[in-house]
Amino acid sequence: MSSQATEADFDMLVRLIRTRHSCRAFQERAVSEATIRKILETAQRSASDCNIQPWKVTIVSGAPLDSLRTAMYRCAASGAPGLSDIPPIEQYFGAYQERRRDCGWSLYGSLGIERGDRVASGRQALENFRFFGAQHIALITSHASLGMRGVFDSGGYIALFMLAAHALGVATVAQGSIAHRADVIREHIAIPTDHSIICGIAFGWSDDGHPANSFRMKRASITDVASFVG
Ligand SMILES: Cc1cc2nc3c(=O)[nH]c(=O)nc-3n(C[C@H](O)[C@H](O)[C@H](O)COP(=O)(O)O)c2cc1C
Repeated sequence: MSSQATEADFDMLVRLIRTRHSCRAFQERAVSEATIRKILETAQRSASDCNIQPWKVTIVSGAPLDSLRTAMYRCAASGAPGLSDIPPIEQYFGAYQERRRDCGWSLYGSLGIERGDRVASGRQALENFRFFGAQHIALITSHASLGMRGVFDSGGYIALFMLAAHALGVATVAQGSIAHRADVIREHIAIPTDHSIICGIAFGWSDDGHPANSFRMKRASITDVASFVG
């Protein structure tokens, strides 16, 4: 395979990046193991610090996923405090807070939930713990001793996983929220105790007609994030 990329390669990449979006309503139809393996093979090409490849991925489907879904939803709905391996963000501020709110309002607005309707928005937020009806979840973990480095290399892996899935027509949504229930995940799935649960990626076939999939998030301008020196 030539390593020399062409303009057509770039155009294809941009098209895939621009058309990928988070999916929050899935069909009840499984993805074949062959397709899942293709996604894993592609994501495995992620770059990492000294090529340590710190990510581990556990694909949960079928009956174990149903049990996990039931337990996660029950626990989150009960309001019991969560437990995270990775410390949660205590407070968002400024632009980060604004973008976060915009994300929530875009989702809730698409479902006809009024701003300030905490009951309805809370109910929708709980759908995270049903994995939005996805037939598979990839649990992403990294050895705890690798700390932040393991986490940010895993971020690159997550991005490639989602892009590879999209290129195969498979919809995804990364789910940091479920990592706040690390204790419940561990009760159901054998995650080594020396690994930190970073997040999940729910994936499957998109329910395209569902309003939760009808909105697209914008991005900040590059002038907000990039600077040139010299
Ligand atoms: C690490 C990570 C964790 C995320 N956690 C959640 C989550 O718990 N629930 C959710 O609905 N979306 C979650 N998202 C999806 C983001 O909200 C989404 O990527 C962002 O709003 C941009 O929208 P887009 O993916 O449709 O372009 C997460 C995304 C990332 C990268």
